[in-house]
Amino acid sequence: MPAISASAPGKAILFGEHAVVYGQPAIAVPVTQVRAKVIVQARPDFPAGRVLLQAPEIGLEDILANLPSDDPLASGVKSVFDELGITQPPAMTIRITSTIPVASGLGSGAAVSVAIIRALAEFLGRPLTDVRVSALAYEIEKIHHGTPSGIDNTVVTYAVPVFFRKTGGGEPDHVETLKVSKPFTLVVCDSGIPSPTITTVSDVRQAWQDDQQHFNSLFESVGLIVEQAKRAIEAGKIDRLGPLMDHNQQLLAEMHVSSDELERLIQVARQAGASGAKLSGGGRGGNIIALVEPESAERVSLALSSAGAVNTIVTEINSQFAKN
Ligand code: PMV
Repeated sequence: MPAISASAPGKAILFGEHAVVYGQPAIAVPVTQVRAKVIVQARPDFPAGRVLLQAPEIGLEDILANLPSDDPLASGVKSVFDELGITQPPAMTIRITSTIPVASGLGSGAAVSVAIIRALAEFLGRPLTDVRVSALAYEIEKIHHGTPSGIDNTVVTYAVPVFFRKTGGGEPDHVETLKVSKPFTLVVCDSGIPSPTITTVSDVRQAWQDDQQHFNSLFESVGLIVEQAKRAIEAGKIDRLGPLMDHNQQLLAEMHVSSDELERLIQVARQAGASGAKLSGGGRGGNIIALVEPESAERVSLALSSAGAVNTIVTEINSQFAKN
């Protein structure tokens, strides 16, 4: 049996994080410069049924049976066996590598899950549809995030810009591929400050419970921004996106998910020429994104690095398909 590989890109949330958990729409884009990759190889030399997982970057090399049931990598593998009704898997090695920085809001967990699910299902001769790949990855996202909206697994599965709305009540989510009429450039900047999304999501929930009226109105305002951004992207009116990003950032700050350090980096990006900037993802740490003209991307990146960013990625957003 030949080795089978699959990969999945990183992602950034362009508009609508947090509000998306409460049913508002959000827009996310793939970040194709970074990827998770999985190679599955048959091991006729192993005892029957032995499944060896290797993830050298996190120092993991162990057989599936030894891993705890809530381990996200093991859960990805088991979810495919369950989905396909496989009780006696063939002996194999599953090797997981990734260039996506971990816990920085670039969707590393979702990308690893999607790559495991795709590679393994294909190795077993029963490739899964994108809808099923995303649904299985969503279940694993719950281990990382608690109550995820589903946007991360969706954008990483489809690997195109998506307009997403969580539907709830067991109904399929609304997922729309966004037509990008005119490509645009983002600088994705990692603050280097770890900030688990599960914490910011649960803090926002607490704040919403304490003042539902105020938070519902913040979420609705974000929803309106997302709708406007969708129209602007589809119409190729990129100049409208910068102010929308700035406004979305103000609302995120009101939700208490920004921080002094993120605000400082956002200011640095704007001063270096970005036409808009905001945090991306869970907030308090992790990433900011800045909208730039291609010719000022390097200047903005350098300014952010000099201001203490640990990593910057320049990425062009277009409608191109980049699944594998
Ligand atoms: O931290 P990230 O990039 O995985 O983004 C989380 C986005 C939230 O809206 C805060 C949570 C969610 O599940 O949508």
